Parts: sequence; structure tokens; C-alpha cells
Amino acid sequence: MGKNIAIFASGNGTNAENIIRYFQENGEVRVKLVLSNRRSAFVLERAARLGVPSACLTKEEWADGRAVLALMEEAEIDFIVLAGFLARVPDCLLQAYPDKIVNIHPSLLPKFGGKGMYGEHVHEAVLAAGEQESGITIQYINEHFDEGAIICQQKCPVLPDDTPDTLAARVHALEYEYYPRVVEQLVLGQR
Ligand code: GAR
Repeated sequence: MGKNIAIFASGNGTNAENIIRYFQENGEVRVKLVLSNRRSAFVLERAARLGVPSACLTKEEWADGRAVLALMEEAEIDFIVLAGFLARVPDCLLQAYPDKIVNIHPSLLPKFGGKGMYGEHVHEAVLAAGEQESGITIQYINEHFDEGAIICQQKCPVLPDDTPDTLAARVHALEYEYYPRVVEQLVLGQR
């Protein structure tokens, strides 16, 4: 039996695209749906180009959760992947998908996590703190931002002449390399 993934994303969607492409080659796992909370999110355009159905739900629908859960059930989603998703995941989804919702964060949690810490804000904070290394954290999610159990971390150096953009590029490269593989192992029960 194949496994179906949904990706939730709020922004550009480079990770979402990378994951969709990764599983296009895979007979056992496929990305069946992309959901967003922002109508202007470029991830919706990426999904359309790649032939993956997508939808954008309103703030009220995300807060309530029932419409999201209905879409998950309709598409027979087994596993949910957050890829730059900046809204709260509704409680009814956390209950319906225990240990089946994962997130990626662009720092070595618990450092540089929590509300407001996303995307470039994370890299700016890492540089301002004078850190010598940064990286990625793949984690389960729970009701508190960035506090779910950690599944895997990968490190990269912070270089003396880094800007938020150069550091972001190094961290993104780690995300592209590891996130699809870790998701695959989790979905197939190999991890
Ligand atoms: C990624 O770097 C991801 O780790 C980060 O947002 C970026 C999304 O990029 N997520 C968070 O900061 C979550 N707190 P993308 O839209 O190009 O995939």
C-alpha cells in the first residue's frame, strides 16, 4: 500500500518542490496535496507546475481545523510535512496524526527557535550571536512552537564573512539533502 503525504507551506516553497520532485521517482510514497495559509505563497504556483493539487485555507479555517482535517481525510493523507509553514497546526490534526507531523527548522534547536523565529530572522540571530556553527533540525511537532521531539540535526559552519543570505544558502543545501530522505524513512517506518 502506498503512502500519501501532504505538505503545508506558507512561502516560497523550495523545500516543498524538492520533496515533491524526490517522491516523483518513488513508487511507495507520493505528495498528494499542498496546503497553504497564504494566497500569495509561491509554493502554490510550484505545486501547480508540478501537477500536485493544492489549496489555500483562510485564517479562520486554520484556527478551526475541521476543514483542514476533512481535506486530509478526503485525500487519504498518512503523513504531514511542514516546509516553511508559519501558522499553527490545528489541535484536531495533532490528535488525528500523532507522531505523523514533522517540521524543519533552520537552526540547531533549542537555539534560535520559538515564535517569530523563522526564515531569515533565524540566520540574522545566529550571526548576531556570533555562533560558529548552525544547521537544521527535523522534529515532530506538538502544541508549542519548535519544542517537539528532535528526530535529526545536521550542522554546517558559520563563516566569518557570512551574511544572512550566504548562511541561508548553506542551511538550505542541508535541508534539500536531508529532509526528503528523513521523511521517506519515517513514512516507511524505517526510522
Ligand atoms: C526553510 O529554511 C525552513 O527551514 C524555514 O523556512 C524556510 C522555508 O523555505 N522554516 C522555519 O523557519 C520554521 N520555523 P522554503 O519556502 O524555500 O522551503
